[in-house]
Amino acid sequence: MTDCLGDGAGDMTPMDLYEKLTSQGDTVRTLKTEKAAKADIDAAVQLLLKLKVDYKQVTGQDYKTGCPPSECVVSQDNGPAADGEDMVDPWNVSTTNAKGVDYDKLIGQRGKHNGVSYAVTLCCLSFSRDMHQVLDAYEKNKSFYLYTGRGPSSDALHMGHLIPFIFTKWLQDTFDIPLVIQLTDDEKYLWKDLSLEDCHRYTMENAKDIIACGFDINKTFIFSDLDYMGASPDFYRNVVKVQKHVTFNQVKGIFGFGDSDCIGKIAFPAIQAAPSFSSSFPQIFKGRKDVQCLIPCAIDQDPYFRMTRDVAPRIGYPKPALLHSTFFPALQGAQTKMSASDANSSIFLTDTPKQIKNKVNKHAFSGGKDTVEEHRKYGGNPDVDVSFMYLTFFLEDDEQLEKIRQDYASGALLTGELKKRLIETLQPMITSHQERRKQVTEETVKQFMTPRPLNYSF
Ligand code: TRP
Repeated sequence: MTDCLGDGAGDMTPMDLYEKLTSQGDTVRTLKTEKAAKADIDAAVQLLLKLKVDYKQVTGQDYKTGCPPSECVVSQDNGPAADGEDMVDPWNVSTTNAKGVDYDKLIGQRGKHNGVSYAVTLCCLSFSRDMHQVLDAYEKNKSFYLYTGRGPSSDALHMGHLIPFIFTKWLQDTFDIPLVIQLTDDEKYLWKDLSLEDCHRYTMENAKDIIACGFDINKTFIFSDLDYMGASPDFYRNVVKVQKHVTFNQVKGIFGFGDSDCIGKIAFPAIQAAPSFSSSFPQIFKGRKDVQCLIPCAIDQDPYFRMTRDVAPRIGYPKPALLHSTFFPALQGAQTKMSASDANSSIFLTDTPKQIKNKVNKHAFSGGKDTVEEHRKYGGNPDVDVSFMYLTFFLEDDEQLEKIRQDYASGALLTGELKKRLIETLQPMITSHQERRKQVTEETVKQFMTPRPLNYSF
């Protein structure tokens, strides 16, 4: 195993160097977040720059985040995220750009997989890792499965939480493959000031909202880590395998753990990695360990799966492929994602039609001009307008959306009218989610969460 930091380029392969650079980018970002001493940050940046020079010498290419040496086909310059103003890790998302996080820059991979349809109207895909593997498998009729998850830290889910699940449901319907959903109640216990009982209760409540998205009970297994870890020897064996093959140095580089973090946090990434391997679910895959995994998730989960993809070949498993959904912005603007702790930043799944109307009217950041006269004259800016951004997620008719964009930009459509469109789109969506959730009984939850074969033969 390569050590994370410190030694020179020497006899390193381009891949080793690439990984070192990526992890150094993470280190720099972590130091900046933690507001570490300037000298430490400067030193880390120096090392990053040195590695970049080494990388260019060895590969003849510029380093691009998310674009390993052999895979690079996109040639625009994408420095590591540490250079820019975007900040994304599993616990923070922020940017100084009003249009939101620049995913293309962050990942530098858009356009890589020409065969992939980016036109999923429900969800704005930003990038994919190894999607070609999955599409190959699909074309050759080989099997693969979906894995996604959620950290249940409260029972107040907002719309942003649903995006990855709506997207996952679309993938399940499109490909007709098994899906496993991990609820990381253990993670939330380790990170937040919550009791184990609370975390487990949130798991069961969140499972209802997830089920209400319409997943097929014959094709979906939902599990709580607190329950499944102890019940599945094969799952735990994979956790331990990952733990043996990732060093403290590596997780420190990826996640920014420090000396005062509890050891549970340091060991946790292995638990999020394990569902990426089909042998963790012998009841579904009949002990097969080679079924390709595809993970739809928000981009903030990338560190976990970078680690997973790194370790997979070393423990004899295929690397999972990733599909990232973009963040759903907070009502206040695209600089941050919605936060469950700020009631005004989000539309909750429990909001009434009236609350939805008030929140959108009061809090949705507007790209419109200050007065109607000015707006009519100069037009609004749909790119920073939160109501418009939300409509891009939920309006399924692309032509209508384009018309709204043009009318808003020309000034023909006023902010109040745009907001009204959004309110009328959201209200029935949320109401029908609430109705579907009501139909989900304890018994249904139990069935989804029972380890069992799914309707697929392996
Ligand atoms: N860590 C994620 C969270 O806090 C939960 C999670 C576990 C997850 N496994 C996943 C998310 C796989 C996406 C894909 O929300």
